Amino acid sequence: MNQPVMGGVATLNVPAYIKQQKLINWVAEIAALTKPDRIYWCDGSQEEYDRLCAEMVAAGTMKKLNQEKRPNSYLACSDPTDVARVEDRTYICSNTKEEAGPTNNWMAPADMRATLNPLFDGCMVGRTMYVVPFSMGPLGSPIAHIGVELSDSPYVAVNMRIMTRMGKAVYDVLGTDGEFVPCVHTVGAPLKAGQKDVAWPCNPTKYIVHYPETREIWSYGSGYGGNALLGKKCFALRIASNMGHQDAAKDGMGWLAEHMLILGVESPEGKKHYVAAAFPSACGKTNFAMLIPPTSFDGWKVTTIGDDIAWIKPGADGRLYAINPEAGYFGVAPGTNEKTNFNCMASMRENTIFTNVALTDDGDVWWEGLTKEAPSHLIDWQGKDWTPASGTKAAHPNARFTVAATQNPVIDAAWDDPAGVPISAFIFGGRRSTTVPLVTEARNWVEGVYMAATMGSETTAAAAGQMGVVRRDPFAMLPFMGYNMSDYFQHWLNLGEKLGKVNAATLPKIYCVNWFRTDDQGHFVWPGFGDNMRVLKWMLERIEGSAGGIENIFGTTPRFGDLKWDGIPFSPEEFETITSIDKDAWREELKLHEELFTKLAYHLPKELTAVKAALEQRLA
Ligand code: OXD
Ligand code: MN
Repeated sequence: MNQPVMGGVATLNVPAYIKQQKLINWVAEIAALTKPDRIYWCDGSQEEYDRLCAEMVAAGTMKKLNQEKRPNSYLACSDPTDVARVEDRTYICSNTKEEAGPTNNWMAPADMRATLNPLFDGCMVGRTMYVVPFSMGPLGSPIAHIGVELSDSPYVAVNMRIMTRMGKAVYDVLGTDGEFVPCVHTVGAPLKAGQKDVAWPCNPTKYIVHYPETREIWSYGSGYGGNALLGKKCFALRIASNMGHQDAAKDGMGWLAEHMLILGVESPEGKKHYVAAAFPSACGKTNFAMLIPPTSFDGWKVTTIGDDIAWIKPGADGRLYAINPEAGYFGVAPGTNEKTNFNCMASMRENTIFTNVALTDDGDVWWEGLTKEAPSHLIDWQGKDWTPASGTKAAHPNARFTVAATQNPVIDAAWDDPAGVPISAFIFGGRRSTTVPLVTEARNWVEGVYMAATMGSETTAAAAGQMGVVRRDPFAMLPFMGYNMSDYFQHWLNLGEKLGKVNAATLPKIYCVNWFRTDDQGHFVWPGFGDNMRVLKWMLERIEGSAGGIENIFGTTPRFGDLKWDGIPFSPEEFETITSIDKDAWREELKLHEELFTKLAYHLPKELTAVKAALEQRLA
């Protein structure tokens, strides 16, 4: 291969197994701009992972946890100003503002490039630039796509090895002319000669930028989660949603990149279905994806395909096939324990990277909700001594664990199947303390799309900002939508219409759920977690055509007797508290739908306004 001349900065040293000149030229071009001291090509090996972790331990970025208690595991604590996705610093730089739509920050691509260029110029001085090749989805799968991230953060390199199929084998798929999404990431903290590094370098100025037309990602200033692990939200949702939409112009169908977990549910008779479920961040998606059915559900099995993102493509048979583009879980730690998610706790017994949790005196980890009683002494996520009397959180509320999907004891046998799994139902759920009932089945695809489009949720700690306020979060995609939200609604409607024509019988059913309704005292009424199986069983039986329900204003809901109650003392009155429809509250709710529709008026599908008018009539 032709080794471009590097003009005074690090030598490229391209490994012989890399056969793509376009990729090499791009790495050279970014190196010339960012001026790292060294360039390191990741091969994805265990030896490399162990070495990079050891280097980070030496540098103070990570601590090695007690090898007996938590083998091969590490704790990283971030700068206190770099703890979550920064939605207000996230941009979709499409050619026009309309294409990004009113839910996204936008800047004209040329203006953004002019803004970013001086920031990236020399941003890696004194650091190593890691070249991180990764596949989103099983290597070579027709549903998968490739990305290459250039990052000056070794924390990113090791996390990407867990979260994606990362390493040498990606270059075989890429070959001499395969497509890849170029992702450039910097913590934005160049080191002057002799300057000592800090444990978690970052920059108060942050930009998370997507160029949908050229399918590029540029991230500046943060080393944390979705800001920095660019395969996840940036590629697998924002860029991929664009790709799925753009491809519709080519093949008439396109595909979907969704903020959805995928699980398999199997009855004792061996009837198995896959469902994909969208919930906003930190609403228990990982718990739902690894659910353990109550003991009274003998013979029922739930298995995980993915816990956060689904790529879904139509098959020739008119069914939708989904893969999990990721290879690991980057889950919220606080609240996770043996009771709320046993399988998740089992997944992180070893080989785990923890971020922003607390350190115990015996070198293990702790977070709020892990045990009923907090340990008497900890080092908190900011490195300070902590006791239960401290009055602060020992772990940051958005503290995370990174683990390989293969460590999940209930991983589905087909999780790595390049063909994907057929989807029988979509579930949409928000965190709502009032108004929205436990579960509703949409009467048809269009009404289901309406339910998803008008979803609302009380906000959580996954994004920087105010907590607990209801915001509209269509399809749980608000922070992750890569193009105009109304065009996205239309894409869903078009796809449903086309698939319905191929085979109406296999068009997935659509459900709206709410696990979070509270009573007058503000306590959750629904037990949630494993008991969500009761709702899942009803859905499975609806798909099979065997379960009953009753039609109301919004769709079909189970009556008390339609759910299996063995094993919990749940009364019809309690059921009423979480399933009742308060018409006044719904009139208020529809006003909020109106507000959303006004905001999204440009290209808003007429079908959705028609559904709203019909609902208003039913309410009247
Ligand atoms: C996540 C999120 O990290 O949704 O999955 O914020
Ligand atoms: Mn998520």
